[in-house]
Amino acid sequence: MVKVVVSGALGRMGTNIGRIVDEAPDMELVGGIDVREGTLFKTEVVPAAKIDAFLSEKKPDVLIDFTVAGAAVENIKAAARNGVALIVGTTGFSPEQRETIAAAVEGNVPAVISSNFSVGVNIFWKLVREAARELGDYDVEVTEAHHRYKKDAPSGTAKTILEILDRELGSREKAYGRVGETERKDEIGVHVIRGGDIVGDHSVLFAGNFECIEVSHRAYDRAVFAQGAVRAARWVVGREPRIYGMQDVLGL
Ligand SMILES: NC(=O)c1ccc[n+]([C@@H]2O[C@H](COP(=O)([O-])OP(=O)(O)OC[C@H]3O[C@@H](n4cnc5c(N)ncnc54)[C@H](O)[C@@H]3O)[C@@H](O)[C@H]2O)c1
Repeated sequence: MVKVVVSGALGRMGTNIGRIVDEAPDMELVGGIDVREGTLFKTEVVPAAKIDAFLSEKKPDVLIDFTVAGAAVENIKAAARNGVALIVGTTGFSPEQRETIAAAVEGNVPAVISSNFSVGVNIFWKLVREAARELGDYDVEVTEAHHRYKKDAPSGTAKTILEILDRELGSREKAYGRVGETERKDEIGVHVIRGGDIVGDHSVLFAGNFECIEVSHRAYDRAVFAQGAVRAARWVVGREPRIYGMQDVLGL
């Protein structure tokens, strides 16, 4: 039995993950952590301030964190202190926060950290890499759309797209939306849409003379991210203590 604690337990992702873990015959949902009060599929949800005591009492195998960047850093440090493996789906980390996370995790606990846990997006990233490799002289534009409550922009998935493009094309300037007089050079345009209940759309346009290629992904239900995170939780237990990506879980 893989024992799981969900942090961000009462959020959109946390409740999806709680349901999947609760129904999994090989997993045990031992509780949740949030700043709000509630329960997660009949298990206790404790305040974030009590995370250390909770982890040391419940001794879970894995903590799955889908919260907000600042909170996630503290939760990751607590899991590392308590020898609990990690799945981190939270996005919006600053470079300094990423360094803090790496220092807490490396050599202490195994952690799968990914801006997107869906299988489809991990394949989409591969396709983007391949297209960029072949289309270095095309103009590139990245567009993403999410629901009205999303806190960070551009999305973590879009930032991963930009990292892939930087690796393949060399570091190009980013134009975050355009307004007024603009002259296109070799920058990458980045466009963010927020509205309604859009689960997550990403597209990368490669525009050349007389043709365009668009690589895109659309998530219809956040269960797709939750399923991926739970798959990663099964995979991470017992691994070497370092940071992994979803591509390691999927063997890509
Ligand atoms: N990697 C992926 O595949 C993926 C997919 C979807 C969302 N996300 C990311 O996951 C995060 C959460 O998204 P969401 O839509 O579920 O947000 P949400 O706002 O619905 O849920 C976040 C939850 O975290 C709780 N929280 C705040 N501070 C906390 C703390 N210190 N400890 C524990 N819980 C705390 C909030 O009360 C809330 O219940 C965001 O960063 C989002 O970008 C990642």
